[in-house]
Amino acid sequence: MPNQFEFDTVINRMNTNSVKWDVQEGQLPMTIADMDFKTSPAIIDALAKKISTRIYGYEVPKDNYYDSIVRWCTSQHNWEPAKEWIVYCNGVIPAISVIVQRLSNIGDNIVMFTPVCNAYFNVIFDNGRHVIEVPLDYDPSVNEYSINWDLLENAFSNGHASLMLLANPCNPTGTCWKQSELTTILRMAHTYHITVVCDEIWGDLVLAPGQSYVPVMSLPKDLTDVAIMLTSTSKTFNTPGLHSASAIIPDRALREICSRGFAIADIISPGTTSLQGTIAAYQSSDDWVAALKNYLWGNVDHAKEFLASSIPEIKPVPLQATYLMWLDCSALLSNGKDAADLAEYLEKDTGLLLLPGNRFRGNGKKFLRMNVACPRSELDDGLARLQKGVSDFQSGLAPAQSQQEDASQQTSK
Ligand SMILES: Cc1ncc(COP(=O)(O)O)c(C=O)c1O
Repeated sequence: MPNQFEFDTVINRMNTNSVKWDVQEGQLPMTIADMDFKTSPAIIDALAKKISTRIYGYEVPKDNYYDSIVRWCTSQHNWEPAKEWIVYCNGVIPAISVIVQRLSNIGDNIVMFTPVCNAYFNVIFDNGRHVIEVPLDYDPSVNEYSINWDLLENAFSNGHASLMLLANPCNPTGTCWKQSELTTILRMAHTYHITVVCDEIWGDLVLAPGQSYVPVMSLPKDLTDVAIMLTSTSKTFNTPGLHSASAIIPDRALREICSRGFAIADIISPGTTSLQGTIAAYQSSDDWVAALKNYLWGNVDHAKEFLASSIPEIKPVPLQATYLMWLDCSALLSNGKDAADLAEYLEKDTGLLLLPGNRFRGNGKKFLRMNVACPRSELDDGLARLQKGVSDFQSGLAPAQSQQEDASQQTSK
């Protein structure tokens, strides 16, 4: 299929203030959830038009912003939110921080499945709350995760839990939670008076055939009155720089608390390009998203094949959603070594940067996370570096600093 959106094109992002690409010459970052692709043509046009107005004053979301979200949820996910449920904010993580402040007290416990998005831990600790981890069960024979319901109920019932943070789908495991699972979580939350914050920032990027994302708010109303849904264009369209996200909250009282909290924390002012970018994403970028998902799934498939044939010691967890491959490296780790040691070795030996799973907690210290949202040639470069690094690691060689120079010639950056 012709690649009309140029996902194969390598774009040099060094020296562009990119967090991901703030690396040394010759290093290859396959780290934070940021894609190395141009965003959709509709967003690029909308931003160019906005910049050309030459006046960048204060803005406020209007009907066309809310309409675009309703359209997207309805057309992509077959679920229609009411416009009045939607509350604008400047990001999912800032929203979680405010929700933690408003809906829990200092010293409270906040429940989450682990491994999970590392930013959650910072938000909770920075706000003086405790984390109660509910480690997902892991079956190494199929490399799959599942919920341990007894542990969840223990965490809910311990008396000091007020909130649960749930990534649906989950970063880093790539799991889409099923309707029956979400239903059980919300039922339990009702029983123990827990508010469930459902972070659905990855909901648009379900890649595996036969899998689907279930928006928490598509469940019956008598369950969703304890839930807050958060969403954004940030992951799907690679637009974290728009600083635009939405909380979708059917329950009026919860919505009031969150709206007031967002206003007090001053996370309700759109940036110059926030509104136009979001509207262009949700109104006029369907083809681009379809092509993106296709390309990403091709990359995942390609990486899986390469791992199976060339680095069979690494077992990828079957990815349902996200573009973050979660690689079980247990077979490589002995003598007290963990994923952080392996990641450090790979960096020194080959210049390949992957995230060690330690920071996602749960059983993460045996895993590496690899971001495959990049042109195929960049992915091939990363896989070749991984193969070399793993082979050197297994031979017990000291990491070959000099190899970084060789590696830098393989990448087109
Ligand atoms: C589950 C999850 N939530 C939130 C974020 C970041 O959200 P934002 O940039 O809107 O604060 C990420 C980033 O990777 C994520 O994986």
